[in-house]
Amino acid sequence: MSRTMLTICLALQAAIAVQAADRPDVLVADFERESYGEWKADGEAFGPGPAQGALPGQMPVSGYEGQRLVNSFYRGDGTTGTLTSPPLRLERKFLNFLIGGGMHPEQTCINLLIDGKAVRTATGPNDRPGGSERLDWHTWDVADLEGQTVVLQIVDRRTDGWGHINVDHIVQSDRRMQAEPASRELVVKQRYLHLPVKNGAPSRRMKFVLDGQTVREFDIELADASPDFFAFSDVSKFAGKTLRVEVDRLPADSQALQAIALSENLPAADQMYQERHRPQFHFTSRRGWLNDPNGLVYFDGEYHLFYQHNPYGVQWGNMHWGHAVSRDLIHWQELPLALYPVRHGDWAFSGSAVVDAKNTAGWQQGDQPPLVAAYTSTGRGEAIVYSTDRGRTWSEFEGNPVVRHAGRDPRLLWHEPTRRWVMAVYHEAEGKQWIAFHSSPDLKTWTYHSRIEGFFECPDLFEAAVDGDPNRTTWVLYAADGQYVLGDFDGREFRPAGSGKHALWHGAFYAAQTFTNTPHGRIVQIGWGRGVTFPGMPFNQQMTVPVELSLRTTSEGVRLFAQPVRELESLRQKKHAWSAQAIEPGERALENVSGELLDMEAEFAPGEATRLGLVVRGVPVVYDVKKRELTCHNVTAPLTLDDGKLRLRVLVDRGSVEVFANEGRVAISAAVIPKADAPAVKLLAEGSAARLNSLMLHELGSAWSAP
Ligand code: FRU
Repeated sequence: MSRTMLTICLALQAAIAVQAADRPDVLVADFERESYGEWKADGEAFGPGPAQGALPGQMPVSGYEGQRLVNSFYRGDGTTGTLTSPPLRLERKFLNFLIGGGMHPEQTCINLLIDGKAVRTATGPNDRPGGSERLDWHTWDVADLEGQTVVLQIVDRRTDGWGHINVDHIVQSDRRMQAEPASRELVVKQRYLHLPVKNGAPSRRMKFVLDGQTVREFDIELADASPDFFAFSDVSKFAGKTLRVEVDRLPADSQALQAIALSENLPAADQMYQERHRPQFHFTSRRGWLNDPNGLVYFDGEYHLFYQHNPYGVQWGNMHWGHAVSRDLIHWQELPLALYPVRHGDWAFSGSAVVDAKNTAGWQQGDQPPLVAAYTSTGRGEAIVYSTDRGRTWSEFEGNPVVRHAGRDPRLLWHEPTRRWVMAVYHEAEGKQWIAFHSSPDLKTWTYHSRIEGFFECPDLFEAAVDGDPNRTTWVLYAADGQYVLGDFDGREFRPAGSGKHALWHGAFYAAQTFTNTPHGRIVQIGWGRGVTFPGMPFNQQMTVPVELSLRTTSEGVRLFAQPVRELESLRQKKHAWSAQAIEPGERALENVSGELLDMEAEFAPGEATRLGLVVRGVPVVYDVKKRELTCHNVTAPLTLDDGKLRLRVLVDRGSVEVFANEGRVAISAAVIPKADAPAVKLLAEGSAARLNSLMLHELGSAWSAP
C-alpha cells in the first residue's frame, strides 16, 4: 500500500470511529408541553403537566432546559405520586437526564424498570434543610442493556422536607453528560491564573494542589463554554512549581480546564477600571464580590482598606480579605489579597486593624511598629494576625483563637486611660444580640468585661470631640445598620447617655467602620454600599464615599454629621455656578452641563412649595416640606430644616447617588444607575414656587487616573 493510500485509509478509519462514537442523541422527553403526553401521572404530586419552573412556595428552580420540567412539588412536599413513561428502546450507551430535588432513595427518585424491576435508580441531591433546587446532569451507563425495552418511572413517595423530585431533558446518547472529577497540571511560570466564570453556572469546588497538599480551595461558577469573565488567582507564591488544578465535578465536554491560562497580567487588564459601569470615585474590587470594609487603618502615609471579598465570583462566598491602599482616600491601589481562609469553609470574616505603636505584642521588627488585625475565623473564633511590612503580608498569632464565642466582627481600639486594648465584638447569647467588650494588655490575652444588648454585627466604637472642643468628648457606638448611641466608655463598659439610637445614614449603607490611627485624630468612615450593582460587570458592590464624621450640637441634642472627605475635591474639574433664582412649579433642566460624575452643592428656600429639589440624571432628590422628608431615588430620610433652608451636597457616580443634607446631618446612599442621557440637573418645585439660593456643580474626573 502506498503511503498516500495508507493515510487515506487511516483517515477513513478515524472518521468511521468518530461516527460510531457520535451517533446522534435520541431525545426521550423534554417536557416542554403543557401535558405529559404519553407519560402517565398517578397521584397528585406531578400536577396536571410539566411545571414552568418553581411552583408556589418553592425556592427558585434552575438548571432545567427550555421552559418546563417535571416538578413534583405540586401543592408542596405533602403530595405523592408517580410519573411513568411509555415503553422505550435503549439504543445508545448512556441515558442522561437532569435531576434535582430530594435525596431519598426509593422515595424521591427516577427508576429504570425492566419487567417492573428497577435496574437503575437516581435521586436529587438534597436531604436536609437548605440546599438548592438546581438540576444537574445524571448519567446511567446502559451499554449492557442496549436493544432492550424499558420503562422510566419518576417517583415521589415522600411527604416531609425535600419530599419532591425534579427531572428534565432525558436523552439517550453515546456521551456521558454527568459531571466527573477533573484536573489539569500547570507549571507556574507567570503570576496570575485566569479562571473562566459563568454567572449562575453550577458551583464547583476547585483546589490547587502542590506536592499532594491542597494550597487553595474555593467554590467557583466555572464556565464550561463561553465565560462571562475571568477571575484570577495570584499564584506567584508557587512560581516554578507544578500546580494541579482539581475540580470536583465537570461535564465531560467542559472547556473550563483548557480555558484556564497563566499570565503576567490581570484578565482584561487593558479595560481595568474603564468598564462601562465601573464607578469612577467609589471603591470597587477589580474582580468579584465585596461587602464590609475591614481593618481600616492609617499607617506611614497610607490608608488601608481591607474588605470582605469573594475573588472568584460576583456573589457572596469564599470570604477573603481584599486589600487596597490610598494616600488620599480617593485614589486606591489594589494589592494582593491580605487574608486567605485557613481552609475551605473557615472563612476570614470581618474585623479591624490597629498600629501597635508601643509594641505591646512584641512583634515589632526594625523601626516600624507592626499592624495588628483581628478578624473572625469562622471555624475557630476571633483571631489575631500581624504584619511587619506595612500590611503587605500577614502572620497568624500562634495562640489563635483569642476569643471563642457565638459572635463575630471584632473591633480593636487602644484605650489610653486604662492603657489597654479593647475589643468590641458582636456576640449572641440567650437568644439576644449584643456587643461584648474585652480588654487586653498585649493583643494576645483577652479578658471579658461587659456587654450591651440590641446591636447586630460589625460594631464600631470611638471617642469624638463635641463641636470641635477637645475638652468635651463623648463616645459613639454603632453596629452594622449604622444607628448609633452616644455615651461613656471606661475601657470596660459602655453606658449610653440620653435618648436611644439615632440614624445618620439611610439607604445602601451597612457595616461601616472608622479608620484607626488617622493624622490629627480625624474620624474617617467608609461603609459598604450594600446593594449597589453593576449589570454585566465582573465585579459587584461598592464602598460608600469616605466621609469625615463630627459631633455637633443641634436643637435635638448632640448628633453625628458626615461630610465627604475634602480630598474628593481634588477630582473637581469643570465648574458651573448659578445665582439665586425662582423655581416655578414644574421641572426645568439647566443647560450646558455634561459629564456623568457630578459633585454639587445647592441651597434652597422652600417658600410656599410643597416639594422641591433636584432631578440629577433622572434621579429625584426631593424634599417634602409637609412630611419633613428627603427622598433620593428609593430612599427616604426624615429631615428638619435648621433655619428654613435646604442644603444639599449630591454626589453622582455610575452606580449610586449620595446626598448629604444640611451640612451632613442626614446622609443618603442610593443604589441607582443614573441615566447618562437624562439632563444632568433639573430644578423642581411643586405646589408653588420655591427659591434656589445658590447652586454650584463640578464635573468630576475619574479617581482611576493617577492623582
Ligand atoms: C456583615 C457580615 C459580617 C460578617 C461578614 C461576612 O455584612 O455578615 O457580620 O463578618 O459580613 O462576609
